[in-house]
Amino acid sequence: MESSKKLRDPSAERERGDDERVALTVTFALRGGRKSGTSRAAKVFEIVEAKIHHLESRVAKTSENMTDDDLEFFVKCEVLSSEVSSLVNSLKRVAENVKYNREEKALWFPRRIRDLDNCHHLITRYEPDLDHEHPGFADPVYRKRRAFIADLAFNFRQGDPLPRVEYTAQEIATWREIYQKLRSLYPTHACKQYLDGFHQLEKHCGYRAGSIPQLQAVSTFLKERTGFQLRPAAGLLSARDFLAGLAFRVFQSTQYIRHSSSPMHSPEPDCCHELLGHVPMLADKEFAQFSQEIGLASLGASDADIEKLSTLYWFTVEFGLCKQNGSIRAYGAGLLSSYGELVYAFSKKPEYKPFDPEVMAVQPYQDRTFQPVYFVAEHFEDAKFQLQKYALRIKKPFSLHYDPFTSSVEVLDLPQKVKEILSYLKDELQNLCQALEKLS
Ligand SMILES: [Fe+2]
Repeated sequence: MESSKKLRDPSAERERGDDERVALTVTFALRGGRKSGTSRAAKVFEIVEAKIHHLESRVAKTSENMTDDDLEFFVKCEVLSSEVSSLVNSLKRVAENVKYNREEKALWFPRRIRDLDNCHHLITRYEPDLDHEHPGFADPVYRKRRAFIADLAFNFRQGDPLPRVEYTAQEIATWREIYQKLRSLYPTHACKQYLDGFHQLEKHCGYRAGSIPQLQAVSTFLKERTGFQLRPAAGLLSARDFLAGLAFRVFQSTQYIRHSSSPMHSPEPDCCHELLGHVPMLADKEFAQFSQEIGLASLGASDADIEKLSTLYWFTVEFGLCKQNGSIRAYGAGLLSSYGELVYAFSKKPEYKPFDPEVMAVQPYQDRTFQPVYFVAEHFEDAKFQLQKYALRIKKPFSLHYDPFTSSVEVLDLPQKVKEILSYLKDELQNLCQALEKLS
């Protein structure tokens, strides 16, 4: 797993380079500024190698003791984070009323689909190499196999054909057991949208007990139906990286299978979880749209918002239940890919709570074993609507627009950009209105 180690510290990688510089706004006053003060203050900025973006001065007005010869300054600059205190302290020696504000710099996020090549950082929980409770920890053959399949994902670049894995007889036997058992529960436990997708996959994409579907075939199937595509993931991804993929209608999918000794439950994602839990729902157009919106909401969001968004994702996309035709049905992938948890979730043991994104976003969750709490939406559509509303309330200093033609996101930082998109939408709207007129 050498290559995985290289990717273990995403924050460190991203914080290097440009991210070490911080943007500052500094205000200060100089007595006798018109004489020698200005050059002394300028020297302070020069010594810390500040990059000045904007500088303004005016006759000092903030203090009664100031005279017409004194000046106030407003400076916008960029400086190395380690030099901020040095700049401020040095300035205080030559100026008065020194105040500063550190501007929050927007976090890096992918703008183009190929930027997802930088969004595959793993979380080191539940790995067979590191966790002695993992069913594969004491099985060197399984660990070697996992490392081989993980490397296929590490070496993948956007645009490459998805790697093909020739699954062993033992792996197919594990899949068969899971497939047959889960399939027997779906008609009574899965929501309508899931059942529709699953039937389509059996009919058109080779879903069956006797073979594990290849990611390329599934990706092609999804692309034709909802525009979603798969890319291989080496293991459990960081929430930020996983959600970022959704913004581009890319679902990052593991390709290995759980250990044969524990077929009915896996605390980590595997191909059974992705192919049986997530993929059928991603074949639903509305669910695909909703998944992308969660992804777009995550781009550039603060760590605190990512945590809330991923917790919401956990209680909905992973473990969501909804009412449908008078009974409760599952739409969460964590349930629909785990025979053990699907049976448990419909027993009397867990607690059911009403769907409320504000409550769900801060609800502690269980990622080692079955959930003690599930949230039940009144309708599948209602869950989607409320989650979309929650995602839209996430505060960010910019707005984004996804361009489906180039599979890229654009920051709407100029009125002209917004006008161009509006003009395109106007044409589209006109086209649709004309179509309606013809039909009526
Ligand atoms: Fe999942």
